Amino acid sequence: MSKKVLILSGSPRKGGNSDILCEQFQKGAEEAGNVVEKVDLRSLKIGYCMACYGCKGKGVCVQKDDMTELLDKMVQADVLVLATPVYFYSMDGQLKTMIDRTLPRYTEIRNKDLWFIATAAAGRHAMERTFDAMRGFADCLPGARVRGEICGEGVYQKGEVRDTPAFQEAYEAGKSI
Ligand SMILES: Cc1cc2nc3c(=O)[nH]c(=O)nc-3n(C[C@H](O)[C@H](O)[C@H](O)COP(=O)(O)O)c2cc1C
Repeated sequence: MSKKVLILSGSPRKGGNSDILCEQFQKGAEEAGNVVEKVDLRSLKIGYCMACYGCKGKGVCVQKDDMTELLDKMVQADVLVLATPVYFYSMDGQLKTMIDRTLPRYTEIRNKDLWFIATAAAGRHAMERTFDAMRGFADCLPGARVRGEICGEGVYQKGEVRDTPAFQEAYEAGKSI
């Protein structure tokens, strides 16, 4: 059955390594007959959560920016893919800012299959805290299932990930959903 797949690409680098893995995932998922949308967080206007709790009991943020529409898409998707470069052993600010802004409706992001993508100049050991932070988000979503973690290791400059196993892995992961 065709699934709705939402890929959230967190890198500020268009055509960067994690972005390339997102495209590979998208290619595989589309070829398998799914409906896929890739959203580049860098092109959206998403302010920081201000912890004002203005959303409490309302499910709506006081800030009127691109997060409103993105939250609708997250609630409606069957599969969510979160992608980030590793920055100082963690996810980048774009992805974390987006995650924090799910506060008004994160309990509605139910029963999703989640995939994580991360890229780093160093090896797998440098990515554990990044994946762990993403798992922490998954732990907050009712019924979430983490299906896989795609690890683009040893990649520094744009495009280097094409020469690593992660390039094919991302495609296969997309095909498998
Ligand atoms: C601010 C910043 C912090 C970084 N911190 C790390 C790090 O802690 N460990 C690491 O292995 N690579 C680190 N890198 C390198 C990136 O993770 C690497 O270049 C990655 O491939 C970028 O992915 P992208 O092309 O998708 O943006 C850092 C890069 C930047 C710009």
